[in-house]
Amino acid sequence: MSKKILVTGGAGYIGSHTVRELQRQGYDVVVFDNLVHGHAQAVENAPLIVGDLLNPDEISAVFQQHPDIAGVIHFAAYVEVGESMSQPGKYFRNNIQGSVNLLDAMTAAGVKHLVFSSTCAVYGTPEHVPVTEQESAKPESVYGASKHLAEQVMAWYDQTRGVKFTPLRYFNASGASFDARIGDEYKPASRLIPILMEYLLGQRERFFVYGNDYPTPDGTAIRDYIHVDDLATAHIAALNYLWNGGESMAFNLGTGQGSSVLEIINMVREVTGRDFEIEFGPRRPGDAVRIWADNARAKEVLGWQPRYGLREIIETDWQWHSAHPKGYED
Ligand SMILES: NC(=O)c1ccc[n+]([C@@H]2O[C@H](COP(=O)([O-])OP(=O)(O)OC[C@H]3O[C@@H](n4cnc5c(N)ncnc54)[C@H](O)[C@@H]3O)[C@@H](O)[C@H]2O)c1
Repeated sequence: MSKKILVTGGAGYIGSHTVRELQRQGYDVVVFDNLVHGHAQAVENAPLIVGDLLNPDEISAVFQQHPDIAGVIHFAAYVEVGESMSQPGKYFRNNIQGSVNLLDAMTAAGVKHLVFSSTCAVYGTPEHVPVTEQESAKPESVYGASKHLAEQVMAWYDQTRGVKFTPLRYFNASGASFDARIGDEYKPASRLIPILMEYLLGQRERFFVYGNDYPTPDGTAIRDYIHVDDLATAHIAALNYLWNGGESMAFNLGTGQGSSVLEIINMVREVTGRDFEIEFGPRRPGDAVRIWADNARAKEVLGWQPRYGLREIIETDWQWHSAHPKGYED
């Protein structure tokens, strides 16, 4: 019999791609999402329970209705670095209290395996790149701090209630499904590539690069862009690791390759065949200077391997945005 997985935040960007991959691999999936940023259309064939993690009764009811849940993948959170700096309470409440309510509901139901969406933002600007999981956490944003604190809360639930968990520290999730049916539909777009796509589609008048005075070769910030379908397969590998008795452990999910903002812009020009003007603005608070992943642990322990690079990321994102210029409304 196929195992049943609860996916919180499964109507969001990374969650919906993971739901698809779970179903492709034959798992039974239940999605729980309050649709504040998620989209019902992104959940194609799985049951969607509309509920809020900040309401303990709503998440407990899911485990009562589905007593056969074998594991949880927890995406539900607020995700914007910039907004987290202006509204810290919103982020600490949702990202920490929401996780606590989930952990209580899980443990009450006897579910002990949790894959958690963490982030490279827990490292801030690391001393060493590529960054390993041993690097000390020095978040530079409320968002990064909220994820780091949630990891610590989970470690206490491991110690006190035996919940085994894997924080997956994603680098920059990007790209869309190869059939252009689902993609990044977060409004207002806050990530570099979707912003560039909106600009190319004439939905933005100007495009700003935030900061060209960073201590990097071309002066712009460096990130590790990882295709969302590669993230999806890692979640399933992490669940299997836990089911096979794996100890709680964090994993970096990146390609191991850093790209600057200007390199992304050049790849967008190449893939789309369009030239466009860019402007330079000041750095944004909370943005790290440069970071890319050492992904050796995920490769060795989870047997995971990223399959796609920058070209596939930009190609799939361009196809998704061109096919759905108004997002899921189209
Ligand atoms: N996108 C990235 O580059 C990136 C990088 C690192 C980590 N992450 C993490 O990955 C996860 C998913 O990110 P995403 O980019 O898919 O964002 P997203 O906003 O598209 O997805 C988050 C989903 O969670 C839902 N949600 C939020 N709060 C909720 C609550 N209280 N109850 C129920 N549902 C709730 C939203 O409606 C949304 O569908 C997040 O935890 C984020 O912190 C994302």
